Amino acid sequence: MNVYLKERDGKEEIATKNLIPNEKVYGEQLFEITDENKENIEYRAWNPRRSKLAAAILNGLEKLEINEDSKILYLGASTGTTVSHISDIVIKGIIYAIEFSPVSMRKLVRLCEKRPNIAPILGDATKSKSYIHYLEKVDLIYCDVAQPNQTELFIENIKLFLKEEGLGIIMIKSRSIDVNKKPQKVFKEEEKKLKENGFFVLEKVKLEPYEKDHICLLVKKSF
Ligand SMILES: C[S@@+](CC[C@H](N)C(=O)[O-])C[C@H]1O[C@@H](n2cnc3c(N)ncnc32)[C@H](O)[C@@H]1O
Repeated sequence: MNVYLKERDGKEEIATKNLIPNEKVYGEQLFEITDENKENIEYRAWNPRRSKLAAAILNGLEKLEINEDSKILYLGASTGTTVSHISDIVIKGIIYAIEFSPVSMRKLVRLCEKRPNIAPILGDATKSKSYIHYLEKVDLIYCDVAQPNQTELFIENIKLFLKEEGLGIIMIKSRSIDVNKKPQKVFKEEEKKLKENGFFVLEKVKLEPYEKDHICLLVKKSF
């Protein structure tokens, strides 16, 4: 899956094969690995303190499937930190990257000029029908908008855009939902909403020590 996961000096490290050699995206480290054909392949270190997906993988997320030809809808793309690593993986696929901040979008568009497998869409993820004409059905919906209504908008986007056998992944930050409630209670309530809408939670992974009071939920539409 173009991902390098290895223990170095007692620490697990994650990196992706750089789609655009010699180019960094957010100041990450670049390094080379010699493959079985004795070719040097450049990788980009994937920082789990900058990307919740890297944190979730390092913390044991194992049922997520992203292939070279996966089609992905990414809600809350920001300037493209995590999107860029997914772009290293889906070299024959596409990422529809939704972001509503014009400031972040400007930086994201510059990234997309170099990475043709990212389609940037300036849009509001709570108004999924507004970008229906730019999209097709996808294999994975990734949601990281850090908003109180994010489970609801995740469900709406899944109903419109996820293939029957596709997967959804949501990063829940307890404080974005309710600062006054205990994180465990928030996580349970958000999970309940997903189950009430017919979703099956395949995996739950906490993001400590990289992110405090966050949980990653991997879901599918039904059994
Ligand atoms: C936590 S940041 C995302 C970080 C990014 N996923 C990464 O790992 O590189 C959340 C982003 O969601 C965006 N956002 C929040 N609400 C949104 C909405 N309703 N529609 C689209 N983007 C939204 C914010 O502007 C912000 O850039």
